[in-house]
Amino acid sequence: MLSSSLLFALLLLLVLLGTKRAFSKKRRLPPSPPKLPLLGHLLQLGSLPHRSLSALSEKHGPLMLLHFGHVPTLVVSSADMAEEVMRTHDTSFASRPDLKPVRTILYDTHDVGFAPFGDYWRHTRKLCTIHLLSGKRVKSYRALRQEEVAFMMQKISRASLSSTSGFIDMSKVINSFVTDIVGRVVSGTSFRAADRCQLFSKLIDDNGVAFRELCVGELFPSLGFLDGILGLNPTAKKVAKEWDVALNEMIQDHVERLNRDEVQERDFVDELLDVVDKPEKDFCLTMKQMKAILWDMFSAGVEASFTALEWAMAELVRHPETLKKLQDEVRGLAAGKDMVKEDETHDMVYLKAVLKEVLRVHPPTPLLLPRESIEDCQIQGYHIPKKTRVLINAWAISRDPKHWDAPEEFRPERFMSSDLDFKGKNFDFTPFGSGRRICPGMQLAVATLEVALANLVHQFDWELPLGMTRDEFDMTESPGLTARKKEPLHLVAKPWGQIPLE
Ligand code: HEM
Repeated sequence: MLSSSLLFALLLLLVLLGTKRAFSKKRRLPPSPPKLPLLGHLLQLGSLPHRSLSALSEKHGPLMLLHFGHVPTLVVSSADMAEEVMRTHDTSFASRPDLKPVRTILYDTHDVGFAPFGDYWRHTRKLCTIHLLSGKRVKSYRALRQEEVAFMMQKISRASLSSTSGFIDMSKVINSFVTDIVGRVVSGTSFRAADRCQLFSKLIDDNGVAFRELCVGELFPSLGFLDGILGLNPTAKKVAKEWDVALNEMIQDHVERLNRDEVQERDFVDELLDVVDKPEKDFCLTMKQMKAILWDMFSAGVEASFTALEWAMAELVRHPETLKKLQDEVRGLAAGKDMVKEDETHDMVYLKAVLKEVLRVHPPTPLLLPRESIEDCQIQGYHIPKKTRVLINAWAISRDPKHWDAPEEFRPERFMSSDLDFKGKNFDFTPFGSGRRICPGMQLAVATLEVALANLVHQFDWELPLGMTRDEFDMTESPGLTARKKEPLHLVAKPWGQIPLE
């Protein structure tokens, strides 16, 4: 039998050994700029975080550990480090953080984009790919896209004739075009006809406001209960309610159609309904989960595509020589036709280069979507603890002067002599992300953007509003998850050739 004093001595030795091991295990963390007590680096974020984080990383390196309140956040600002996160350690970083406003709006993150890494995410992502976003599906929406493009052309044509101000609000035009395309592919019916365009555009705008709202629990997880007591984050609750009403109404329409046996072609909502509350299926959803997925398709689908097309038109009017070169290509290959058909865009190499350059200079989600590590890991000798949030600054990376010649210049020619693309293999150019979490809507987005842009430059000549110079044209970004153009895009459109009016 061991005496109690011997037992005590042994215990003490074990504790000391443990402490020594803990000290010797003290791991090297990535560099971190000086921070304030409590707030950490919060005040260094600025209103356009991709820009302020880029400036910080110039001083502190491409891998920085910041603290927003108590939350550790790894900021990645070079192609090499992005490759470490999105390829070498892709699985370790394949989850998303649990963000309070997102949770409130997104039915406890039962969508795809913010779902934690795991089986639910895998199943729902597959469901969206098979029934909505696969190459085959995207091709099948071709006629629908062509109709919506034609409608947009007529709208611009009419507006250019009737405008009293002399210019058109192209932000509005592009927004309703993209909302209607996404609305139609997801719900099978024209959003325009069902008067849903405006409502969904507004709801998507409101998401941005709600996501920017202050949450104490976001920064100091242990004080999250204060959000409820102080009544913080009221917009998220209001927006969540409005989304719920709109989605319920759309789902109800589909249920009634199914009950009346009126469905000829099944759309995405029908496909989802097919697995709602069906425990006998391999994978089934609740109604709440279905709504989260629909939210994702509308919000992710509309917001980023709209932002990209708006920036494309803004850059083209600021660069008349690029616009002219693009028009020469498009008008040459679609000579004698009223409209450019999707097949005809395949050979439009300059069109593709312009689109890439737009996504390089203005990646719609400049910090991609935030990720979170699900296990400890090592990057370049630095220890990254489990549950560290990760922001990949795609905006800074696609302007890194080490990889890009004259990165601030809008110059689509840079892509003419290279096969660099945005499909997730080139880590200096990842507007759609990369790895397991890469954007599943890339093919739908590119198909929509190419045919829309081709027709916009084919059918119209574009100018800045009368009297405005290129330098006066506002190119400021607005804050948010997506970096939209802050001011509405006002342009003068002059019809080229004749567009038949209905
Ligand atoms: C120009 C248009 C678009 C851009 C630039 C874009 C960009 C992105 C980016 C950067 C991510 C995060 C990737 C990552 O974490 O590595 C993402 C995720 C996502 N995008 Fe897109 N996107 C676009 C259009 C679309 C469309 C049209 C849809 C669907 C209708 C869509 C659906 C999604 C979804 C569901 C996710 C979450 C994927 C996941 O977490 O597994 N996106 N997108």
